[in-house]
Amino acid sequence: MQIILDELGRLETETVRQIAEAGTLETLEELRVGVLGKKGRLTAILRGLKDLTVDQKRDVGGRANQLKTKLEDLIVSRREELMGASSEAGLIDITLPGRPLRYGHRHLVTVVMDQIIDIFQRMGFEIADGPDIETDYYNFSALNFPPDHPARDEQDTFYVEGDRLLRTHTSGVQVREFEKRRPPVKIIAPGLVFRNEAVNTRAHCVFHQVEGFYVDTDVSFSDLKGVLEAFVYEFFGPGVEMRYRPSFFPFTEPSAEVDIRCFLCGGKGCQVCKHEGWLEILGSGMIDPAVFKNVGYDSERVSGFAFGMGVERTAMLRYQVNDIRLLFENDIRFIRQIR
Ligand code: DAH
Repeated sequence: MQIILDELGRLETETVRQIAEAGTLETLEELRVGVLGKKGRLTAILRGLKDLTVDQKRDVGGRANQLKTKLEDLIVSRREELMGASSEAGLIDITLPGRPLRYGHRHLVTVVMDQIIDIFQRMGFEIADGPDIETDYYNFSALNFPPDHPARDEQDTFYVEGDRLLRTHTSGVQVREFEKRRPPVKIIAPGLVFRNEAVNTRAHCVFHQVEGFYVDTDVSFSDLKGVLEAFVYEFFGPGVEMRYRPSFFPFTEPSAEVDIRCFLCGGKGCQVCKHEGWLEILGSGMIDPAVFKNVGYDSERVSGFAFGMGVERTAMLRYQVNDIRLLFENDIRFIRQIR
């Protein structure tokens, strides 16, 4: 009987130490099974009690059961300590504040496109669109581009097959709408355009344009000026000076490009305006009678103006973006800066 009591003593010393030293929940569980499990050392001792006399059973049995309770309690509290430690190590920290959800927002190009559209809608322009894959007729011929015009070169235009091409500008929508309607026609046509050009800081092979055109009896160049000046005032803010520079487009006569006073340097000259003090924002003009003839309008009875602007360029000027590629790369660090 003394042998069993000695055995219990040793088991107690050893197990108490091992419980205190157990570093993980797994080690602790192995220890518990090894001592208190079905085939555990203490369980074996308790089972052996049946061979003893009644008195011996009382002494040894009492002692063994005490030990069992003591070890179970120690294991439970050690388990709690270990679980507390793992949450302190950052695995589960129920006191951490929640992570805020980041909301998405519209891309800068979409924002600027919508601003431009909104301004012209308020001046009574309707919205139309045309196909990205256009025919030579709508993109060039009907707009009075001669057969040997350099823009028709494969170096400038992406051809798809036959006479189909990716439209190089939104001006073709003029022809499509004139064919469908009779004057008065007052429309803006936003959309994607494509140019077979090397990509650099200022030019891209894909970008957006907004085309605008107004045809009615007695539409004059001063109507064009009034609409463009109202646009510049609304979009760039009051007090921004603008000028018209004579230009040439096959589908307008006379033609003018519009510049605004560089609002970054006030005209003194800076990197953005290339030290010219002026920034070009769009092309425009009075619609050429040759275009009216192609759509069956009588240029003796009606007249009209048209204009076209690049959306990315306008966005870059307005928000001081110095590389057009930033608008296409979708680098989240850039996108998050502008809402
Ligand atoms: N389509 C021209 C371009 O892509 C821009 C343009 C110039 C549009 C004059 C017009 C216009 O409507 O009248 O560069």
